[in-house]
Amino acid sequence: MASNIALVGSESPDPHVHNTTHDDEADLADMNQVSNTDIPLWEMNAEVLPVEMHGRKYQSYPEGEYLLPNDEREMERLDLQHELFQRILGGRLHMVLLPSPQRVLDMGTGTGIWALEFADRHPMAVVYGIDLSAIQPKFVAPNCIFQIDNLSLPWDFDLKFDFIHGRSLFHCFSNPVHIFQEAFRTLADGGILEMQDFIFDFRSPDDSLKGSALQEWSKLLDEAFKSKGIDLTCVSNYRNYFEEVGFEDIQQKEFALPVGSWAEGESRKILGHWCQANILELLDAISLLPLTTCQPKVMSLQAVEVLLERVRHDLQDPDIHAYLQVLIIHGRKPKTS
Ligand SMILES: C[S@@+](CC[C@H](N)C(=O)[O-])C[C@H]1O[C@@H](n2cnc3c(N)ncnc32)[C@H](O)[C@@H]1O
Repeated sequence: MASNIALVGSESPDPHVHNTTHDDEADLADMNQVSNTDIPLWEMNAEVLPVEMHGRKYQSYPEGEYLLPNDEREMERLDLQHELFQRILGGRLHMVLLPSPQRVLDMGTGTGIWALEFADRHPMAVVYGIDLSAIQPKFVAPNCIFQIDNLSLPWDFDLKFDFIHGRSLFHCFSNPVHIFQEAFRTLADGGILEMQDFIFDFRSPDDSLKGSALQEWSKLLDEAFKSKGIDLTCVSNYRNYFEEVGFEDIQQKEFALPVGSWAEGESRKILGHWCQANILELLDAISLLPLTTCQPKVMSLQAVEVLLERVRHDLQDPDIHAYLQVLIIHGRKPKTS
């Protein structure tokens, strides 16, 4: 990973966690001084200032590394999506049973909502949240530490984690195997990796998706991300990645999430409602930049807006019975690896 760009939140209680150089320390000292004047740490560094496009703001460290926005609207969506995952897991933050985690890493932490809740529920653990964007709260519990960094680069943590978690990262990495390799290397022996993610491939139990704008949109999106080397359905390979890098005791569960309230049963209807709300908000976020800038079919903003309006209509059409799968999977690093 690049040297630490900015630390958000409290100081590390573990002196070994940040491999800071003399210059870094001087920079941090400077930043901390300025933060007394109430200027957020990340505003001190031009490298992490957001860039604007089509009315949305994007992270610029490094520019183009992540294709979704990091503005207030996206932050609200991430918190809504957190609620969706909470409902899938019956209020739990993870599927695996954890004895007493001490050092926890949340990869691509976003607003940090998962990391903060985990730190709150496990006061004896120290939780590190890593992200490209400094969109986490500034004042947080002392056992929660946010750090801005790029997980696509080699990781250089000095400490070993006993639990690593990653959620909703399906559209982030052109080389997801790198993430699994680095997580494996960075876990202590016997440590656990859990991934919670969408298999971004809309399906239907009948023919109702056929010829829909929803289907057309997801195909265009798939091609646009592929042109950047990102496979939106990579989550369906997660089990292979776990096995390939050496995890054992791999366990997984798949959940079918109806999009909208078309499915039978009260709990499916409620889940479907949350899923629909999340995708309605995700539409702009995941489409605007990729569809207007990525090959093979660069579209005008106007054409994208017309398409998204049709997709919005489909997402709310009770006769279209779409669902998405969510995969929750975990594995253990062998005790002696
Ligand atoms: C959809 S959000 C998920 C946020 C969080 N995991 C959650 O479930 O609420 C994906 C996050 O991954 C971050 N991300 C994408 N690529 C990254 C990278 N190479 N290194 C670090 N973070 C990255 C993005 O900035 C974004 O905040």
